[in-house]
Amino acid sequence: MSQDKQVAFVTGGNRGIGYELVKQLALNGFKVILASRNPEMGHEAAQKLKESDLDVSFVMMDVDNQESIRQAAITVNERYGRLDVLINNAGVYLDENEKLLTMDPSILEKTMATNFFGAYYAIISFLPFMEKQGYGRIINVSSEYGAMGEMSVQGVGAYKLSKLALNGLTQLAAAEIKGDIKINAVCPGWVSTDMGGPSAPRTPKQAAESILWLATIGPEGPHGGFFRDGKRIDW
Ligand SMILES: NC(=O)c1ccc[n+]([C@@H]2O[C@H](COP(=O)([O-])OP(=O)(O)OC[C@H]3O[C@@H](n4cnc5c(N)ncnc54)[C@H](OP(=O)(O)O)[C@@H]3O)[C@@H](O)[C@H]2O)c1
Repeated sequence: MSQDKQVAFVTGGNRGIGYELVKQLALNGFKVILASRNPEMGHEAAQKLKESDLDVSFVMMDVDNQESIRQAAITVNERYGRLDVLINNAGVYLDENEKLLTMDPSILEKTMATNFFGAYYAIISFLPFMEKQGYGRIINVSSEYGAMGEMSVQGVGAYKLSKLALNGLTQLAAAEIKGDIKINAVCPGWVSTDMGGPSAPRTPKQAAESILWLATIGPEGPHGGFFRDGKRIDW
């Protein structure tokens, strides 16, 4: 690994856990790319962090759109020529009060597009940077809702299936990826964000702190695991 400042990329970095991840990574010495599908919100969020002297820049990326992901990878190549950390954080939670078999199927399709395919296309677009330098850390922000045991409990089926698939992707990708490139999934817990709602017991800062260690694990660190607060959890 080169000794230059490492570059980290966070999807859905304009608010919630993603915004905190950007901030914490920058506070830990990373050059951070805050990715957001909304240019105004992305610029504004990056500007706020830059005003605190943090090394943060904005790149537009809609994870539902393959062309947008491809363009973001081109921009990262032109601006930095490297990528050390990819955090697939962008996510949606659209079926809180729905039943899987009676809801509009487009809810499932939309959820899979963002939570699963978004991460999949980001991984295949950014992995070449890591392979080129023989180093990388990929973190998929998942949920315990995606654990196999949750599949026998009704409710939030689209969200659960999307995170189950994301967990499977983490394991399958880990089996294919070679060298000092680590990919892991993490559950941030129940977090007080627009998604988690105001009753959630954890702050985005606590959630980000519990995820960050995976960005800095050494060559002996975990690969293809699923974690919460640094502890392995069941798939
Ligand atoms: N909060 C919880 O309790 C909790 C629990 C377990 C797991 N998680 C996971 O943690 C991650 C972050 O959640 P959060 O609580 O911070 O949610 P949030 O406050 O709702 O923020 C979601 C972020 O994802 C972005 N996003 C959604 N669709 C996108 C797309 N197509 N392209 C690019 N960005 C997109 C949003 O961008 P816009 O602002 O443009 O909408 C926003 O920045 C998610 O993967 C979620 O599933 C959260």
